[in-house]
Amino acid sequence: MVTCPDPHSYFDPDQPRTRRLRLRLGVDFERQCLEGQVVLELAGAAAGPLDLDTKGLSIHSVEASEGARIPFALADPEAILGRRLRLQLPPGTREVAIRYETSPDAVGLQWLTPEQTEGKRHPFLFSQCQPIHARTMVPLQDSPYVRVTYEAEVTGPEELTAVMSAAPGAHRPSPRAGARTFRFEMPQAIPPYLLALAVGHLESRDLSPRSRVWAEPETVEAAAWEFAGVEAMITKAEQLFGPYEWDRYDMLVLPPSFPYGGMENPRMTFLTPTLLAGDRSLVDVVAHELAHSWTGNIVTNATMDHFWLNEGFTVWAERRILEALHGEAEAVLGWAIGQKALEQSVERFGAESPLTRLRTDLKGVDPDDAFSSIPYEKGARLLALVERTAGRERFDRFLRAYIDRFRFTSITSEEFIAFLEEKLPGVGGRVDVDTWLYQPGLPKNAPVFRSPALEELTALAEGWSAGTRPTPDRITRWSPSETLVYLQHLPRQLDPASCQWLEAALGLSARGNYEILVEWLTIAAGSDYAPAFGRIRDILTRMGRMKYLRPLYTALGKHARTRTLAREVFAAARLRYHSLSRRVVESVMEKYPP
Ligand code: BES
Ligand code: ZN
Repeated sequence: MVTCPDPHSYFDPDQPRTRRLRLRLGVDFERQCLEGQVVLELAGAAAGPLDLDTKGLSIHSVEASEGARIPFALADPEAILGRRLRLQLPPGTREVAIRYETSPDAVGLQWLTPEQTEGKRHPFLFSQCQPIHARTMVPLQDSPYVRVTYEAEVTGPEELTAVMSAAPGAHRPSPRAGARTFRFEMPQAIPPYLLALAVGHLESRDLSPRSRVWAEPETVEAAAWEFAGVEAMITKAEQLFGPYEWDRYDMLVLPPSFPYGGMENPRMTFLTPTLLAGDRSLVDVVAHELAHSWTGNIVTNATMDHFWLNEGFTVWAERRILEALHGEAEAVLGWAIGQKALEQSVERFGAESPLTRLRTDLKGVDPDDAFSSIPYEKGARLLALVERTAGRERFDRFLRAYIDRFRFTSITSEEFIAFLEEKLPGVGGRVDVDTWLYQPGLPKNAPVFRSPALEELTALAEGWSAGTRPTPDRITRWSPSETLVYLQHLPRQLDPASCQWLEAALGLSARGNYEILVEWLTIAAGSDYAPAFGRIRDILTRMGRMKYLRPLYTALGKHARTRTLAREVFAAARLRYHSLSRRVVESVMEKYPP
């Protein structure tokens, strides 16, 4: 029996488990809801109570396979978890059919009006179920403990295309006039947070026999160019971590309100359009989402308290892919960029905060509020330390054995420690793995990543106040990541003349690379530098990626003028943001002085 129930789910390990979902959904853009039914196939004949997670769902009926009604009750809503749906299964129940519809403000779904898309002619819908929003889309046992396979039939307006985290089947006209039905089959067991759906005016371009990219017609060519190297990444990742097990690796470029950089939905990674830099400089996000195909989608965290197992392993794997493709110097820059993100997260929570532990205790805490770079970067650093201590070859064997042992399961930090001790005896003690997992802050023995280029860039940036400046000649030879590292090490507040120099010398305003652009605009906002206000306004209105909204709105909080700008922009943009992004901005602005 499972001893560690999920603090974010009503899933009860003593009750029957769902093995497979059969979804039949209609996409209603007018009412902004999904409606239809899900059949939950259980692991065996069952009886008695079955508790499911729901949030904002209207439940119309629950029936057994022969059409017999199954009694059900929705408990009172709980802010984070939503409403428990308790079914009373008659003896011998093998499956239940639930007819239901979603709410227009389901956190897991964003309904975009045509104006919010690139093409401006058709509406768009996308889901984001991680960490605990699958329950706003489907009533189910919404815990990573309960992996399910699924099949789905999705009916929407005939001019739109539906994609899911699954293998597509043949689509056909629907009996409803003007509608079309798409079929999907996901034969591999996934945690519910990897359930994913998007519906929009989409086109695709093949990138290799097993990979294509989907996007609105307006961006599909740019996307195909940007991600042309994906097959080389898959091949490299296979050499490092073993065969790619999910058949296809397709990608979908979403409209700009997508709140994340990427989401590793199996067979269909979701990506922000801010990756379309025009120079392939942001494909590390693709390397990251691809790496989840091993670290995460095959072995994931049992609950959000062990999230670092998912993201820490994946950041480590992402940097191994980058190192293999672009060399060690480039990987070191990745670690340096991650170090800044880590420091900012530790600063946001406070070095003693329990949220800076790897193994967290999120009972009563919304995992979206606990989200930070800590599980990513602290987690990856622990694994890099284990790798250095054991030696790369032994660690690579450990990783393959880990994936093999825990294939298609969801595990805890404690299971990880036990397996580490089994396969690399003594290493956990030598790195003091308990301190890493259970203590706040970054341990003293954290690995350091160095390269001559990194040293030179940080020295240059740190000499800023003493008047040190890079020569134009040097600047033109910087790669995008070198430029970013330089900017990240500059003071957060500069005088107007310095801002002007920086902007001109580095050609910042014309940059297509959002990492660089946002880093610059964060400095500009924190410097109260008025010539940049237009660009800041522009960017905050156009895109809703949380990673960029947080630092920009935070920096705008520093001066009276920029606070006014922030309030104006937010008032105009808030309804275009995803509800998660809106929450992040609100939490930032709550800390503004009145
Ligand atoms: N799985 C995450 C995104 C996520 C995490 C969504 C938790 C909801 C809850 C994804 O793999 C991710 O980490 N994306 C990063 C990119 C990356 C290169 C670190 C992002 O969105 O910026
Ligand atoms: Zn990730």
